[in-house]
Amino acid sequence: MSNQFAKWYDFFMGPLEQRKFKRVREDLLKSATGKVLEIGSGTGVNFPLYRNVDLVIAIEPSQHMIDQSLSKRKLAVVPIEMVNASAERLPFEDDTFDTVVATLVFCTIPNVEEAINELKRVCKPNGKILIFEHVKMENTVLSSMQEGLTPLWKKICDGCCLNRETLKAFTSQGLKIERVEKFYKDLFIVAELRNRKE
Ligand SMILES: C[S@@+](CC[C@H](N)C(=O)[O-])C[C@H]1O[C@@H](n2cnc3c(N)ncnc32)[C@H](O)[C@@H]1O
Repeated sequence: MSNQFAKWYDFFMGPLEQRKFKRVREDLLKSATGKVLEIGSGTGVNFPLYRNVDLVIAIEPSQHMIDQSLSKRKLAVVPIEMVNASAERLPFEDDTFDTVVATLVFCTIPNVEEAINELKRVCKPNGKILIFEHVKMENTVLSSMQEGLTPLWKKICDGCCLNRETLKAFTSQGLKIERVEKFYKDLFIVAELRNRKE
């Protein structure tokens, strides 16, 4: 993650955040309870929005992003701990968290399957997984455009892929969808899943 991307991220996302995303995040995070793991917390946009949770441990592999998030951490009303780590290798014991939160991050994680496996491992049985992501669209014309744009987009936006089938990736690894909403056609999804462990 480049320093420039981290520095300008909030500026470019600001209009979308104010128009739509802030409300989406607030609604989603209302379902978070107990000890929370946030994956790829970026500039910490979610930090001031957590309510009624005991603790948030936020992992983020980019030190530039961590630096940018420190001011939002000060605005939080719940304790937030930051750990420099990647989703594919989480430095936590099995069954540690009541809730796992991932927002706009599965588009960028290099190994989605490994990350989901790790997330399942550290989340308690029956724990909640809350996601808000942009995904590959169902319309074939639009999804072909997403496929075509992805190589360039990935370079400009520090590894972000427009063509990820994130919800399918979660369900194919045994996670159960309890609620899903789509918006801007089906470019964005908000979903609450349950960690069913055998
Ligand atoms: C588009 S930003 C989103 C940040 C934040 N979650 C939000 O909702 O605004 C994507 C974030 O994912 C992080 N990231 C990239 N690879 C990752 C990985 N392997 N594990 C965890 N986070 C990762 C990036 O450093 C970046 O902060």
